[in-house]
Amino acid sequence: MRAALCPRHGPPDVVRIEDVPAPEPGAGEIRVDVHAASVNFPDVLICANEYQLKVPAPFVPGSELAGVVESVGEGVDGLAVGDRVFGTLMVGAFAEQAVVGATSVTRTPDAISHQQAAAFGVAHRTAYHSLRSVADVRPGEEVIVLGAGGGVGLAAVQLAVALGATVTAVASSTEKLDAAAALGATHGVNHRDADLRAALKETLPAGADVVIDPVGGTLSEPALRALRYGGRFVVVGFAAGEIPRIPLNLVLLKGCRIMGFEFRSFMTHETDAMVRGEAELLALLAAGKASPHIGATFPLEETAAALRYVGDGNAIGKVVLAVR
Ligand SMILES: NC(=O)c1ccc[n+]([C@@H]2O[C@H](COP(=O)([O-])OP(=O)(O)OC[C@H]3O[C@@H](n4cnc5c(N)ncnc54)[C@H](OP(=O)(O)O)[C@@H]3O)[C@@H](O)[C@H]2O)c1
Repeated sequence: MRAALCPRHGPPDVVRIEDVPAPEPGAGEIRVDVHAASVNFPDVLICANEYQLKVPAPFVPGSELAGVVESVGEGVDGLAVGDRVFGTLMVGAFAEQAVVGATSVTRTPDAISHQQAAAFGVAHRTAYHSLRSVADVRPGEEVIVLGAGGGVGLAAVQLAVALGATVTAVASSTEKLDAAAALGATHGVNHRDADLRAALKETLPAGADVVIDPVGGTLSEPALRALRYGGRFVVVGFAAGEIPRIPLNLVLLKGCRIMGFEFRSFMTHETDAMVRGEAELLALLAAGKASPHIGATFPLEETAAALRYVGDGNAIGKVVLAVR
């Protein structure tokens, strides 16, 4: 089968297309004919060996796919050859076939295309659990979303609006802010054009209830300063490449809560919230109220370019590999 191979750790350009043997499904696993895969920021980090979990090279990157079940391993219940599924794995999705744990996939609703399904899982689930279970966003609340043009950010804009919140999107370009506005953001702040602290104070004079932060770096502190007394700040990621240090006197003075969301820990420790959120999100997907914005599509042959595009922060919404 054709696959994008990362032969040694490095920047996206080390990834090349090769013919490799199809992986065999073990007990509890299925093999999927991959139709579409989406590129996530951590894929870039895994290739560079800069992610918190290390994968030895050579390996096929790719953590999110959608396709059709091609074979099932021993002990798999409830899934059969021919079922349309989407799901997540650590690596292996950027290939014509991938092996994934049967419990790591979900049936793709009939009305949802493979590309939409592949683009949905990581970003929308991260955004939804962060908003719904971690921040406990309520209708009428003011939510600031950093990185609002990116995969997680744009999903957070859409889902915060679906939860009844008013959204202030923060991003680096007019195109990204336009995409956020199209998904329901009421306000937009371009952090390249303005002093973020002053711009947020002007936009939200009474302060925000919640900040969703997948970016980190120099944006976090001014966003935290924009919280009202008792507000909530959710740390989701550090796409800027820099983990910010927050002066704790701000937390003391604002009586605010800084909370984290990390998928694997959430799955392990917050099982009930996870199950509830997944069911709610799937219903939103099937109802067309949660649909990923696919900003760019690349063929499998151009996986390196797709990874570079995401790694450089250029993606608007999701970037998808059309595998078949
Ligand atoms: N906690 C979890 O479980 C979880 C799950 C999924 C993702 N994440 C993390 O969340 C972060 C965002 O993921 P994503 O899929 O939304 O990524 P993305 O689509 O690439 O968006 C990231 C955004 O970060 C901003 N950014 C600032 N400096 C950047 C830089 N040096 N390089 C790239 N982007 C930069 C960009 O926004 P502007 O141009 O508007 O500034 C960009 O739109 C990543 O760090 C990822 O690892 C965490």
